[in-house]
Amino acid sequence: MSRSSTALATPQLADVTLTRDDMGFIAKLVYEQAGIVIREHKEAMTRGRLARRVKALGLNSVAEYCAFLKTPQAADEIPELINAVTTNHTSFFRERHHFDHLRKEVLPRLLQERSGRRGRVRIWCSAASSGEEPYSIAAVSRDVLGSRSDVDFKILATDIDTDILMKAEAAIYPSDQFDRLPADVKPLLKLEPHSGRSDARISEDLRRMIAFKRLNLIEKWPMSGPFDVIFCRNVFIYFDTQTKASILDRFVTLLAPGGFLYLGHSESLPQPHPQLRLIGRTIYERLP
Ligand SMILES: C[S@@+](CC[C@H](N)C(=O)[O-])C[C@H]1O[C@@H](n2cnc3c(N)ncnc32)[C@H](O)[C@@H]1O
Repeated sequence: MSRSSTALATPQLADVTLTRDDMGFIAKLVYEQAGIVIREHKEAMTRGRLARRVKALGLNSVAEYCAFLKTPQAADEIPELINAVTTNHTSFFRERHHFDHLRKEVLPRLLQERSGRRGRVRIWCSAASSGEEPYSIAAVSRDVLGSRSDVDFKILATDIDTDILMKAEAAIYPSDQFDRLPADVKPLLKLEPHSGRSDARISEDLRRMIAFKRLNLIEKWPMSGPFDVIFCRNVFIYFDTQTKASILDRFVTLLAPGGFLYLGHSESLPQPHPQLRLIGRTIYERLP
């Protein structure tokens, strides 16, 4: 890369130094607000993410940004800070085995149990990011549900990050994101062309199955449940043991007996939970 193109790619900042004190201040604030633990080795990444906010606010340095965050006027900036520091990596049918389990084991059983009584099925996707996970849930659900209208079926998709939730609700993705999807699941997403051939949109049928809402997992939750299924994948990795244990207890309270909790493949329970039984790879069943 030439010197001039490097200069163009770099945000025009006077000073992007992140002192140890500033890093400590940001890490404490993010932990208090979102439960996210920013470890020391993430310093370069954090600096890059803060630089976006420094630029957006027209400030000259990360130090100025930290000083601003300490003023009473900064209340509106806190959600923006959280949006900036979250990691939103996700993909359709990520850790596919969970969607196969939902499709083949869980949904047929739930629909059989709830049929004929105008029963309800509730699924909560609790760290939905840009939507790929809840739309994958909706896709397999629609496949199992077909055109049945005797079941009140709803998916709640939540995330702390308001920017990423807007993206999720729009449901528009670059078409090449679907190229690598296995042939047996891609048609389930019922893609519609959008903006010519470069983008695709998830069909209205699947979009209507999901309600997107902002929810911070470490704050009070407005829902009373029960949920038949909770997805909480690839967010526990950012939390400490205490935060995970507290969220887990609350998941158990909201899960229906016999309901299922899916965690990310690299995640585990902080400690065995007396009301959860491991029944597959990071799949837990709530005991009666
Ligand atoms: C790495 S993504 C995982 C997305 C998806 N669950 C998956 O497995 O592909 C983590 C998501 O957790 C969200 N998140 C982080 N802290 C959160 C909190 N305290 N409450 C709710 N969501 C949070 C982030 O905004 C981000 O979108």
